[in-house]
Amino acid sequence: MKTYFLTLFFSVMAFTWMNAQNTLYLHLEEEGAKINKEIYGHFSEHLGKCIYEGIYVGEDSNIPNIDGYRTDVVEALKELKVPVLRWPGGCFADTYHWKDGIGPKEDRPSIVNVHWGGVTEDNSFGTHEFLNFCELIGTEPYLSINVGSGTVREAAEWVEYVTSSNESPMTELRKKNGREDPWDVKFWGIGNETWGCGGDMRPEYYADVYRHFAGYVRGRGFQRIAVGPSGSDYNWTEKLMQGFSGKNHLVQGISLHHYTLPTGNWGAKGSSTDFGEEMWFKTLHNTLVIEEFIRRHLEIMDKYDPHKRVKLLVDEWGTWYDPLPETNPGFLQQQNSMRDAVVAGTNLNIFNNHADRISMANIAQIVNVLQSVIMTNEEQMVLTPTYYVFKMYNVHQDAQLIPTSLACENYTFEGESIPAVNASASVKDGVVSITLCNLNPNKAVSVDCNFPGSEFKSAEGKIVTSEKMNDYNDFGQEEKVTMSDFKVKKPTNGNLNVEIPAHSVVLVQLK
Ligand code: AHR
Repeated sequence: MKTYFLTLFFSVMAFTWMNAQNTLYLHLEEEGAKINKEIYGHFSEHLGKCIYEGIYVGEDSNIPNIDGYRTDVVEALKELKVPVLRWPGGCFADTYHWKDGIGPKEDRPSIVNVHWGGVTEDNSFGTHEFLNFCELIGTEPYLSINVGSGTVREAAEWVEYVTSSNESPMTELRKKNGREDPWDVKFWGIGNETWGCGGDMRPEYYADVYRHFAGYVRGRGFQRIAVGPSGSDYNWTEKLMQGFSGKNHLVQGISLHHYTLPTGNWGAKGSSTDFGEEMWFKTLHNTLVIEEFIRRHLEIMDKYDPHKRVKLLVDEWGTWYDPLPETNPGFLQQQNSMRDAVVAGTNLNIFNNHADRISMANIAQIVNVLQSVIMTNEEQMVLTPTYYVFKMYNVHQDAQLIPTSLACENYTFEGESIPAVNASASVKDGVVSITLCNLNPNKAVSVDCNFPGSEFKSAEGKIVTSEKMNDYNDFGQEEKVTMSDFKVKKPTNGNLNVEIPAHSVVLVQLK
C-alpha cells in the first residue's frame, strides 16, 4: 500500500513537473497594446513572377482575370484579409521612375530590371494598376519612393499625382489618365535599403537625404518611413537617429529588414525542400534572432526618441533559400514547406509581442517570390503553408495584445538549444486567441495556458501541420500542409492544457 502511494505521489509530481516545464501565463489583468493589423502586411516587387504572372496577367490573358488581375489570386488575397501591401520594391524601387508607368500602355517606355534577372520591364503595371489592385482586394497601399536614382521633384510630384485634390498639372494628368479622385495613400517609404542597393549610402548622409525628401512628402495623416537597419546593424540605427535629432516630426517609422537563411551564408543558403534536421534547426535559430535585433534597435531608438513616437516597421522579412533548380536565379523562386509555416508563426508571435513599437511588418513577397503566401504556374495556383498561418493568425489583427510570460523546455540539436515553444495572445470582442508554435520536429509538447481568476466556458482550436517537416503544397496535387480543426480540452480552474504536435502551429480560442 505504502509503495502504491509513493508511486502515485511521484507520478503526480512528475506529471506536475512535466507540465510546469511548459506554461504560458496570460496576464489578463494587464492592458497590452493594440496589435496593428498592418503587422500582417505583405510586400510586392517587380521581381520575377510576383507582379507579372503572379498578380497581373493583362486583360487579354486566357487566365481568368478581373481587369487583368488574376481572379484566383484576387479571391485568395481577399480571403486572407491583406491589411497593407508595399510596392514597387525592394531594390527595384530605387530604379523606378513612376511617370514611366502611367498613361496609355503602348506609350509607356520599357526599362531593364537591372537587379532582378535583367529582364525587360514594360511598365504595363504602374501606379494606377497597383492602387486599383489595392482597392480591389481591400488593402492599404504602401509606396516606396525612389531615392537612389530619383529626385525630390519626382517624389513630390508622385505624392501630388496620387493624393491631391487640388487643381494642378499633376492632378490634371491623373484625371486625363482616367482617375478623377485621389487615392488614399498613407504609407510612404523614403528609399529602400539605402545602405545597399538603394544608393550605398552612409547613415549620416542618408539621414540628411531623408530629411530633404521628407519635407516634400507631405500630406494629412502621412506615415513617412525611413530606411532602417539590416539585421544587427546597430550602428546604422544609432547614426540615423542621431541624424534625425530635432527633426523627429519628419519621421514616423524606421524599417528593419531581416531575412532567414538556413546556413546564414548568402552564397549557399540551403534548399527550400531538400533539408534534414540540421537545416530545420538552423533556420529556426536564424529566425529567432530577430527578437534580439528588435529589442536592441528599440533601445537605441528610445535614447533619441524617449516618447517612443517613431515606430519600427519590419518591412521585409521571411525565408530566403537557394533558387529552385531550373529557374532564373534572379527570380528568387523557392518552395514553401512546413518549416516556413513555423517560421511565419514564430515571427508573427514575436511581432505581436512587440505591438507597442512594431506598427507594421511585410513578409517578402506576396506571390511567387521568396516566402510567398501564393504560388502560380500558368493557370494553376497553390496556397502555401505560410498562407494558412497568416489566415489562422488573422484573429490578432487589431486585437488587444495580452502580455504573456512563457516558461518552456528547450529543443536541442547536436548540443545547441532554442526554446521549443513560442506564443502570443490577444483579445477581441471578448474572445481570447492564443497562437503557439512547436519548433521541435520530433516530439509533441504539452503546454499549460494559465489564466488564474478567469473562467472560460469553451475552447476551440485550429492547426497548421503535416506529416513531415519538409512537406509542401505543389501544383496539381492534394494539399499536404493545410489548416484544419484542432481538438482542445475544456478549460478548467483557470487553465487549459494544449498538446501541440511536433512541427506545428496552433490557434486556441477561449470564449
Ligand atoms: O525581397 C528581395 C530583395 O531583398 C529586395 O528587393 C531588397 O530590398 C532586399 O535586399
